[in-house]
Formats: sequence, structure tokens, C-alpha cells
Amino acid sequence: MTQAADWTGRIGDVWAQEWRRTDRSFAALAPQLDAAILRAAPAGPFRALDIGCGAGATSHALATARFDAEVIGVDLSAGLVAAAQVRPRLANLRFVVGDAIVAAASIQPVDLYVSRHGVMFFDDPVAAFAAFADAAAPDARLVFSCFAERRANRFAADLLAAMGMDGEAPAGATSGPFAFADPAHTAALLAAAGWHGKATRVAFAYRAGEGTDAVADAVAFFRRIGPVAGLLRDTPAADRPAMEHAVAEACTRRLHAGAVDFPAAAWIWSATLSRSAP
Ligand SMILES: C[S@@+](CC[C@H](N)C(=O)[O-])C[C@H]1O[C@@H](n2cnc3c(N)ncnc32)[C@H](O)[C@@H]1O
Repeated sequence: MTQAADWTGRIGDVWAQEWRRTDRSFAALAPQLDAAILRAAPAGPFRALDIGCGAGATSHALATARFDAEVIGVDLSAGLVAAAQVRPRLANLRFVVGDAIVAAASIQPVDLYVSRHGVMFFDDPVAAFAAFADAAAPDARLVFSCFAERRANRFAADLLAAMGMDGEAPAGATSGPFAFADPAHTAALLAAAGWHGKATRVAFAYRAGEGTDAVADAVAFFRRIGPVAGLLRDTPAADRPAMEHAVAEACTRRLHAGAVDFPAAAWIWSATLSRSAP
């Protein structure tokens, strides 16, 4: 399961090389998250930190929508921060390589924390969210997305089923892509760290492939990113073609109008500091 340390190494590098396709996979989720972020943003000038900004899509959307905001995107992966710098430069946006907890402390007070799927990788999530609370302005808000349960995220469940594996992630994982799938668990983590959060479930189409051969595009994507990439890598070369064939069949079942889209589900959390609750 992906953890913080993986992002500074090979997984971060692969995401950096694949950032356009990972952005594409989240493209139907992004407007829903970005709208929630804008609803939570203060009326006047403010400072925002994008936790685990990756290639910077969420930071860039916020800085573009709110020129009066100072937006800082932070990520553990130097490769992903380099990818973020490829986007058009904005005077109110900058990116830093490093741990989000350290970044928050160094730029405090933070008025708005945001994240698209970047908060599920802390070794100790309560300590991390508590550190964000410590570095927060009194009326700070925290808005982030995370995956809902794996069986609702068919790009993971279908592909693992095609490999003969269970569709549900092991319960109780502290970190990893599905670690915040249970909203009661996430609410408890936030509460223990001094945040009061509410979650909204959203459905979106996870686009894995498109173009002249959308299935081949999707298979190439899944060879590098997602739940079967590691399995393929660890499989002897002789056995890989059969696995890739199974992945291609699963993608073909999701091919519609020239694109491979898997049904997916996420939670969008919006939280306030408990100490500022009425
Ligand atoms: C699933 S990716 C999401 C990236 C980006 N937000 C997006 O939507 O494309 C998770 C990101 O969180 C980053 N990350 C994980 N733990 C982190 C930490 N403690 N501090 C900063 N970044 C972190 C990883 O390096 C990775 O880029």
C-alpha cells in the first residue's frame, strides 16, 4: 500500500511522468472539489496550502479563481513539483518540495487547507491533522477529497477482480489510497485532531483511456499507475501477457464513445476547527 516514503521515490517519479494522465483520471472529480473549495474560501484575501499538491491542478485552479489568495502547493515528490512548475506561472502561486506538516508550520497562519487525494498517506493522520490545526488561523477551513470504498471505485475493483483478487481493501489501513474510505473513521480522526468535518459523497467517471486506441491507452496507464501496476511489476515476464490481457478485457468492458471510463466515488470533506465551532 502506498505510503509517504513511496512518494519521494519511484511512485512519485512515475506520477510525475504520468501527470497528464493522472490529471485526466481526476478531471471529472476536479470541478466538484474545486467548487467545494471556493465555497469554503474566505471572502477577503487569504493564504491557502494545498497538501500533497502533486502536479498542482488544485493549487492552480484556486490561484486562478482567487487572485487575492496566496496559494502554496507542497509535495514530497520533487518530480511532481517540477511537473507543477510546467503549468502557466501565476504571481499568487508557488510550489515547494517537502512535508506538508513542515510547510504548514513555516507559513502559518493558514486560512484554508485544500487537497485532492493528498491527505491519506500520513503515518500518523491524527498527529498530521493536529499539526495543521496548530498552524491554522482561528477561522481556518480544511477541504479535501479522498476515495470512497474500493468496491465503488471500479478501476480498482474490476482490475483486482480480473486478477482473481478481492474487491475490498483490507480494513484498518492507516495510510494508502483507501485509508479514508470509511467516513466514520475519517470523522473520528479529524475530531481527535481538533477538526469538525462533514463529508459529501460524489460520483465521477475515472477516465483511464482515450484517443485512437482507448483500451491500449488505458492498459498503458494501468501498467504504471494504480492497483495492478505493482502486481504486474512483481510478476515474472512470462506471466505478464496473460495479466495484461485480463486488464485489457476489463477496460474493454468500460469502453464507451471512444473512452475508457470507470465508475468511481469519492468523499469531499469540509472541516472547521473544533475550537471555533459555535
Ligand atoms: C494521490 S497523489 C495526489 C496528487 C495531487 N493532489 C493530484 O490530485 O493529482 C498524493 C500526493 O500526496 C503527496 N504526499 C503524500 N504525503 C505527503 C506529505 N506528508 N507531505 C506532502 N505531500 C505528501 C504525494 O507525494 C502525492 O503527490
